[in-house]
Amino acid sequence: ETVITVTPARLGFDAVAKSLADKVVVPAGYNVTVLYRLGDPIRSNVGAYANNGSDADFDGRAGDHHDALQYFPLAASGNGPDAANNTRGLLVMNHENITQEYLHAGAPSPAPRPEREALKEMECHGVSVVEVTRAASGAWSYVQGGALNRRITPLTPMDFHGPAKGNAKLRTLFSPDGTKGRGTINNCANGYTAWGTNLTCEENWAFYFRRDAGDNNVRTPAEVRALGRYGINQGNSGNYAWTSVSPSDASSTVYRRWNATVDPAAPADGTGDFRNEPNQFGWVVEIDPYDPTKAPRKRTALGRIAHEGCWPGLFTAGRKPAFYTGDDGRGEYIFKFVSATPWAAGDAQAADRLAIGDKYLDAGTLYVAKFNADGGGEWLPLVFGQGPLTPANATYAFADQADVLIHARLAADLLGATKMDRPEWGAVNPKNGEIYFTLTNNNASGRPLGGTDAANPRHYNDLKGATNQYGNPNGHILRFRENGDNGEATSFTWDIYAFGAGADLPSQVNVSGLDASNDFSSPDGLWFSRATNPAGQNSPVVWIQTDDGAFTDQSNCMMLAAMPGAVGDGGAATITNQGADGTLRNQSTIVGKAPGANLRRFLVGPKECEITGVDSTPDGRSLFVNIQHPGEGLTGASAWPDSQNGGSSTARPRSATIVITKDDGGVVAL
Ligand code: FEO
Ligand code: CA
Ligand code: CA
Ligand code: CA
Repeated sequence: ETVITVTPARLGFDAVAKSLADKVVVPAGYNVTVLYRLGDPIRSNVGAYANNGSDADFDGRAGDHHDALQYFPLAASGNGPDAANNTRGLLVMNHENITQEYLHAGAPSPAPRPEREALKEMECHGVSVVEVTRAASGAWSYVQGGALNRRITPLTPMDFHGPAKGNAKLRTLFSPDGTKGRGTINNCANGYTAWGTNLTCEENWAFYFRRDAGDNNVRTPAEVRALGRYGINQGNSGNYAWTSVSPSDASSTVYRRWNATVDPAAPADGTGDFRNEPNQFGWVVEIDPYDPTKAPRKRTALGRIAHEGCWPGLFTAGRKPAFYTGDDGRGEYIFKFVSATPWAAGDAQAADRLAIGDKYLDAGTLYVAKFNADGGGEWLPLVFGQGPLTPANATYAFADQADVLIHARLAADLLGATKMDRPEWGAVNPKNGEIYFTLTNNNASGRPLGGTDAANPRHYNDLKGATNQYGNPNGHILRFRENGDNGEATSFTWDIYAFGAGADLPSQVNVSGLDASNDFSSPDGLWFSRATNPAGQNSPVVWIQTDDGAFTDQSNCMMLAAMPGAVGDGGAATITNQGADGTLRNQSTIVGKAPGANLRRFLVGPKECEITGVDSTPDGRSLFVNIQHPGEGLTGASAWPDSQNGGSSTARPRSATIVITKDDGGVVAL
């Protein structure tokens, strides 16, 4: 284990200014390398990427919209792990979505979609596993043809695990017994385990599904309610029209599966059509990156929501591990899964890693968070038969625990959980176990002036002139500490670490007192440096990434680093909110100590991108960051990454992974 001693604790870089340039900007003394771009070939028999729409074979290339990533160290040779290797590893990353216009030779064809286009778009989603190495010169590159290189796509076979495995509500034509899954989609953030696996999380999967007019008439009221609660509404046409493909092949279920409309000729049990296909998505999926022969496992005990990601608390021998998950939607919830099985440290070295996943992730209790006004909070259990979660419930008659998990949103509604301003990433402080969550933003209807609460305390005008945005357009970062510092606890204390805001906004909006060196908006990605990095430090480093639409007139999206304090280092506060008609309303809340110079902007991305996904080598000296969808506005403003080193380019922009190193070889940010 690398021990790095820097005393006193400090951030060792000068903040970068906000930027509207079409390049990644980092502090003086740091270097950026572009490592792994949309379309880059990872299989040895796939050619270089032409980037003109002619490319195929995306099951052997990098997908689009790079999102969460994690570095899995490899031994110096062979395919096994070596926890301390800083020069050879696997990057496992999500490909959340696509920018359709950059994938085809011309504009995307209207429905019926040419099969080649639809298949390419599907295969650009999913997950990459790709080997990366650092040469003696210090230069990083990915290894085409690496033995463990692998694309996981919406077509990859998977297995269901946990209480919903085999449930009637998972039966489809593809999986008549409800035990098999096919692929994963809209993989946003991630998670990790102590046993060397990756957790990929299915977020905005609901919008890929088509449901035709009239389908409500052949569904039960309970089904219609459940579909609606997840946004799978009658009349939805489904992203990218994949159900309408030419030449049509009625025998292929690859495209039909995205149509959740009931086929009246099919059996009522769901085994002859795809009425239940939406229930196959919304899960946490566990992948063993070191073993490509093993199918990924969908872990149903963790519930079905629009999963942003899934982050474990600290693993303590003899205690049941906890995993924290956010449901990214306006007014959705923060959840926690507590395993039924106490942690045995020896499991970290097990050879069959997915079997260890079975041990800890297939049985346990799912909870949802309720934040109280006094800075306390409770975890409310989603357990069939308890409280309102019964067959007799008038809103939704739950059949069994699988039904509670498949419809975790309905269960959480009935339990009275706190509706949050879009829970995005979580991160766990490796020093004290405190859990941080970004609440990226909310609009005026999601967070009206009269609808604030202590944990979501803001409704204001972000002063953007003609495009005035009310609600909580700049977001905030909340953190909590489990009672007894034990993830098994059913109560916690919380405060708000930082509020996003432009430094030019008045103090009742810029509550955290941000200045030009650290003002930000719409926090999304969140990550604590690996636990080994801050050894000898007074505080570990937390990284904040933004996905913003309210501050992009002043700066492209960015990444900041901070040395935060701890829950309770501030205290009770009152925020004065102002509605669109000028009405003032006070909201009491709990605010942490202002971050000040312990929060600094480290990076600004190229035009029209989002910064998301970050990890480092174990020694903290190489930092990997994903730049998602540069140029997504289709304005022609971005040619990144070709534009990174200056000069003009008309190349199509590409999502890509970058590596950041310090010129003196030191630990990034320290
Ligand atoms: Fe895919 Fe909630 O970000
Ligand atoms: Ca996100
Ligand atoms: Ca976001
Ligand atoms: Ca995005």
